Amino acid sequence: MDIKAYLREKKELVDVFLKEYFAPNFVPAVLKESITYSLFAGGKRIRPILCLAACEACDGDSEDILPFASSIELIHTYSLIHDDLPAMDNDDLRRGKPTNHKVFGEGMAILAGDGLLTEAFFIMANSLSNKNIKNTALIRAIKEVAFASGIYGMAGGQAQDLLSENSEPDKETLFFIHKHKTGALISCSLRAGAMLANCTKPALNAITRYGENIGLAFQIIDDILDIEGDTQELGKTTGSDERKKKMTYPALYGIEESKNKAKELISEALFSIKDFSNKAEPLRLREIAKYFLERKS
Ligand code: IPE
Ligand code: IPE
Ligand code: MG
Ligand code: MG
Ligand code: MG
Repeated sequence: MDIKAYLREKKELVDVFLKEYFAPNFVPAVLKESITYSLFAGGKRIRPILCLAACEACDGDSEDILPFASSIELIHTYSLIHDDLPAMDNDDLRRGKPTNHKVFGEGMAILAGDGLLTEAFFIMANSLSNKNIKNTALIRAIKEVAFASGIYGMAGGQAQDLLSENSEPDKETLFFIHKHKTGALISCSLRAGAMLANCTKPALNAITRYGENIGLAFQIIDDILDIEGDTQELGKTTGSDERKKKMTYPALYGIEESKNKAKELISEALFSIKDFSNKAEPLRLREIAKYFLERKS
């Protein structure tokens, strides 16, 4: 199966939705410029794609959940804008362009992030008008995304990431950081997609285990790419973690062991969905997991 074509096709759908959504002008114009600058700077759209793929894997119609899935990209983009701020990772390059605060200033970058995060929940709630989505499923999915983005998820992970700069790495803290700052949003994207398709409990459990494993693997690979990747290809400056003395997998385990851990997590993810009931769709989830191991950006 051509997973690259699938990823391209879904990314295109997400991009078209987001472009249309942000087509109208609003004031102040610079807030819109700041938001669209980062949102349309590129990005793999992996979280929305996972949401759509999980929905399809549970026999749902992914067209119905395109706005919901796309809104997760707003949360992700907000997290990147804030992550790059001088008060956090202090990075200058994102998605191949100067970081948001470098262009619009710190105040506007903070507000672009605030706007993106809040607008995401507006878009999700707007799916109430879609009669093909059950209200109870929608509320559960929104709750899921809120939990994963906030204090028990990404914000918590990012806080621990900051607190752990310059500290001797330890297994538990490292796992906590990666699980929360990155794993949570990836995992909730999948769970929300499955929930919106009214999946069965066993299917949700399988998708959850899959999500937890690929979520952690995704951040370990991000850590590895920060060392071995190419700035041009990644669109962000390599060596950032070393400069900030971040608590990363390579810092604790070394590069080779980190690669092995990522591989093991991907195998575990594949194992989680091996008994998945649907015949055709899980193949995509399998291929996406394998693609994670090969990605260079
Ligand atoms: C980068 O995420 C930040 C992490 C959580 C590791 P992505 O690698 O998905 O970045 P984009 O969206 O493609 O730019
Ligand atoms: C970011 O982790 C996690 C987020 C929630 C944004 P990193 O700080 O490693 O992400 P990059 O490498 O800057 O994209
Ligand atoms: Mg960071
Ligand atoms: Mg960073
Ligand atoms: Mg990184």
